[in-house]
Amino acid sequence: MTPIKTKRLLLRKIVYEDAKDMFEYAVDPEVGPKAGWLPHKSIEETKRVIEGMINSNEIYSIVYQTKMIGTIGIHTKNDKKYLGYVLNRNYWRQGIMTEACKAVIIYLFNELNLDVIYISHFLDNHKSEGLIKKLDFELIGSKKDIVQGEPKEVLEYKIERFRFERKMLRWQ
Ligand SMILES: CC(C)(COP(=O)(O)OP(=O)(O)OC[C@H]1O[C@@H](n2cnc3c(N)ncnc32)[C@H](O)[C@@H]1OP(=O)(O)O)[C@@H](O)C(=O)NCCC(=O)NCCS
Repeated sequence: MTPIKTKRLLLRKIVYEDAKDMFEYAVDPEVGPKAGWLPHKSIEETKRVIEGMINSNEIYSIVYQTKMIGTIGIHTKNDKKYLGYVLNRNYWRQGIMTEACKAVIIYLFNELNLDVIYISHFLDNHKSEGLIKKLDFELIGSKKDIVQGEPKEVLEYKIERFRFERKMLRWQ
């Protein structure tokens, strides 16, 4: 993953030194559980999570004015590439994740040559739903899943290359 610069953000590989900034939002009950993970209990836990992310080589830290405020990356499930993201609550609703997602989607199609990108969200996560619709992903279905022992309805979306190419000029 090469670093990506946008108007306001630097997206770069996650590093151990991000632990303090990540812990700040990872303890927030409104952040992790919306993405399927429990709030962190200690900075040691955050460091272990970062270690896994470093090894996966698929996660960017989102850096805004020198502070790490979230992550965005891809994970592979059943041979499908899913985009995933979380943001420190202090930075919500400023268009930051829209800006980060557009840049990463352009990178995934243009540099990594993916033909389709998937995203999913829990049925009750209306913030993520709004973001996904703003990015013009199309709904392809829903499924039931067990997350942290709880039954959850998950909505799944995709964007294919031809649909993305229609958007790209407007995004850049
Ligand atoms: C979902 C999340 C990443 C959105 O990040 P953000 O930077 O605040 O999003 P943006 O400002 O780019 O907003 C994009 C769109 O998302 C929707 N949205 C974002 N925040 C919203 C809110 N508080 N209420 C309603 N809609 C919201 C809107 O449709 C918005 O478009 P608009 O501003 O033109 O109306 C952020 O709320 C978050 O980290 N939530 C917790 C973790 C999470 O849910 N991760 C995703 C798991 S699928």
